[in-house]
Formats: sequence, structure tokens, C-alpha cells
Amino acid sequence: MRFRRLGGTAVTAAALSLLVSVPLAHPALAAPGEPGKPRYSAGAPSIGDSYFPGQGNGGFDVQHYDITFSYETAGRRIDAVTTITAVATEDLDQFDLDFRGPEITSLTVNGHQADFRRDGQELVVTPRPKLKEGKPFTVVVKYAGTPPVITDPDESIEGWVPTDDGVFVPGEPQGSTAWYPGSDHPTDKATFTFHVTVPEGITAVGNGQLLSQTTKNGRTTFVWDSTEPMATYLATMTIGNFQVTRSATPSGIPIYTAVDPQLATQSAATVARIPDIIEYFSTIFGPYPFASAGAIVDRAPNVGYALESQTKPIFSSSPSLGTMAHEIAHQWYGDSVSLSRWSDIWLNEGFATYAQWLWTEHNGGATAQQTFSSSSNYGRAATSSFWQTVTTDPGPVDMFGNVPYNRGAMTLHALRGKIGDTAFFRLLKDWATEHRYGNASTADFVRQAQEVSGMNLTNFFDVWLNQKGKPSAW
Ligand code: ARG
Ligand code: ZN
Repeated sequence: MRFRRLGGTAVTAAALSLLVSVPLAHPALAAPGEPGKPRYSAGAPSIGDSYFPGQGNGGFDVQHYDITFSYETAGRRIDAVTTITAVATEDLDQFDLDFRGPEITSLTVNGHQADFRRDGQELVVTPRPKLKEGKPFTVVVKYAGTPPVITDPDESIEGWVPTDDGVFVPGEPQGSTAWYPGSDHPTDKATFTFHVTVPEGITAVGNGQLLSQTTKNGRTTFVWDSTEPMATYLATMTIGNFQVTRSATPSGIPIYTAVDPQLATQSAATVARIPDIIEYFSTIFGPYPFASAGAIVDRAPNVGYALESQTKPIFSSSPSLGTMAHEIAHQWYGDSVSLSRWSDIWLNEGFATYAQWLWTEHNGGATAQQTFSSSSNYGRAATSSFWQTVTTDPGPVDMFGNVPYNRGAMTLHALRGKIGDTAFFRLLKDWATEHRYGNASTADFVRQAQEVSGMNLTNFFDVWLNQKGKPSAW
């Protein structure tokens, strides 16, 4: 699903694949049906994101994932069927999916068995009959086994992470491929439905709303429905012993929280603030973008980070209030408005970190100005190596390091000082509204900041985002 910004230049996967020099498996510009050219060709194996070169695929656009599996405690195994509904954007005789999961036992396209082969994260599919541009098609992939843990360039782990009582399932930036096949780049958002069957007594928590929970013969099936478009990395299906609480925000958004019983006491005060945080952010960022909210608090000590899984952020330990605010802010910035390439990660992390500063001030703690000036931010010595990473290109190893978070947040605070509160807070709202459920880039943000403020901000953004060194004048 690719949303175009009104009157804008949303970067589509197809456009990206032309901008970067990935080896394309076919002449991308050969028009279908052009005389002398084969009518059908292979979709590109990637969308060409330099940080994760295998991610995403060309030639089709995913609309919906239906992920159905039963889970066994022993070995944390699944027996799964994922159904992908997509639309071909080219005439295809071959296309790729991204998948690092367990063994595939069958794969059909439009009900016909299709040949496939696996090569690293690529699942290469040969559909017969071939697929015509503009036509919807359905891929059904059956697989069984234990999904893998995936190690990231920064050595953190994600994917199917074992816990004492189940699995913790974070997916940023490449963990979704552990447990379901798809087009794993944030530019191809889709809606999701999950049907997950677990032993009775265990809870399977996914994104969106719980449509049903039924127990039969000692097994419970949870059906979760995520009706707004979602990037693949934001999907989760975290399984274990959970204390479940249902409530709602003052404006009526349902909240579902699942907390590991061993963390219930410790995390209660933070979890209780979810409605307040959502209400506060709604006043400054605009309406909460999704039909449901919540949180999953689990014990996954080897993960050590939290993630803004859509509608239900996941925490690998008892969260601080600041971390809770950070992950909730991502629902606007990161989840609803998503980046178009990973090098723009500051658009996620800088925004969520700045939102955390604003929440802290609102909640009676340090002011945003004080946090800006502190020794972990602008107070760092000019000689610190912190200033030597470029905000808009931290690289895959440091994309979740200090710079996209803290220099990103500092950039926003400095921008606020430069353009004034009225223009700045209008910009935050406009950014959330204009790119809702879509993708946007740093260039889009710079353009929008200039429009809202009526100022030329070329030098400002150059100093803060594109140059190394501690900014001294802007
Ligand atoms: N986006 C998450 C957060 O800041 C962090 C994810 C870190 N992932 C990783 N693979 N290191 O809220
Ligand atoms: Zn974050």
C-alpha cells in the first residue's frame, strides 16, 4: 500500500529503486509490451535502501497480510499460513518476498502451486500463470518450525526472541522476516489480521484490536485486526503469561495492556499514565492516529530496548515513564508517518525523543530547554566524538545510537527557537496530518518547515542535519 502525499513527491519504492544503484534483475525501464522486449519480467529483489539492501521488493504492492499460526510451547514452534494480498505494478513472471523463517512446505499464487527458491532473505517465486500489471493476486505460504532470532548491525537482537514463558517479537529494522514472509521495507505498508492459537492460559498479543478470543480443547485462538496501514517492522505477536487490562482514553480509544505478572507491581504506575500521555500528545500533535492503543511489558533481558510496535509498543523490561512517552510518541512519528529510507531514522527517533522532553516538562520535570542544554545533549564538549556523526546518515550500526535520538531532538528544539512556537507546533501537527499513514523524507520536512515558517532554513538544517561538528550558529 503506497500513499501519495497530496501535490507532493512521496518517494515510492519504484522511484527509490531508480535512484540508487542496486543491480536490478531486469531492465526496469523496458515498458511492458514494448516491441522486441519480453512482456513479462522479474520484479526487483529489493527497493534499494542502502542500509538494508535486501529489504523490500519491486513489481508489486502489498495490501494485506493475514498471518495465521498455531504455537507450541515446546521449541516455540509455529505451524503457519501467511496469506499476502498484493497488486502487481508490472507484468511479472517472477517476484521476490523477504523471508528468513522456517521451512516452507507449500506456496501458491492465485491458488496454483508456484515454484520457489530461497536465497538468504530472498524468497524467489515463479508464479504460473504469470501476473499482469494492475491486477490483484494472492500468495499463500505455509511453513513450520521455530522462527529465528535475528542479529542487527548494532548486535542487538530481534525477531523471534525466547523468553521464560514464550516469545518477545520486535521487528525493527529486519525482524519481521523471522516469522512472516512479506515485503519488508517501511515504504510498503499494509493492513494486517492475525489468527494465533496458543495453549490455554497463554496470551498472544498482536497489533490493533482483539476481534475474538475463543478457547476449545485446551487451546485459545486470538484474532487481532490492524485496520490502519502498518509498516512490516511494526508488527508483533508477543506470546507468554500476561496480566491483561482493558481501559480507554478519555476520548474513547480502547487500551489493551499485557504485563508480565513478575513486572506488574513495578510497571503499574507507568502503565497507568498511558491515557494521560495519549491525551497530552493529541493536543500538541493532533488526533491519535489509530483505533486502539496499549502496551506489552515483558521480560526479555537480552533485548534491552523497547519498540514502538503499532498500537502496542513492546517493552523488554519494566519501562520508565520517559520510555513509555517515547514509544507512544512514535505512534504519530514513525508509525503513522514513516520514513522512506532508513538513513532518515532521525525523523523517527529525534521526534520521539523530543516528544519525551516535552512530556517531561508537561509532567513537571525538566523543561525542554533544560534537557537541550544538559550534558547528554548540547552541553557535550565540542571535542566529543558525539558531534562527529552526521544526523541524516548515522549508518546501520549507529542508527539507534545517540545521534539520531539526541542530536535529532536538539535539531527540533533549535528549530523551535528559530521559527517560534506558533510555527513550530503547527509544523508538528501538519507533519502528522499531511503524511498520515504514509512515508516522508528529510527533504519533505525541510520543505514543510520552510513553508510553515516562511523562512529560508537551508543553512539551519545544513548545520544541524548534514554537517559534522557541534553547531555554534544557526
Ligand atoms: N525504535 C526503537 C526505539 O527507540 C529502538 C529499536 C532498536 N532496535 C534495534 N535493533 N537496535 O524506540
Ligand atoms: Zn524510538
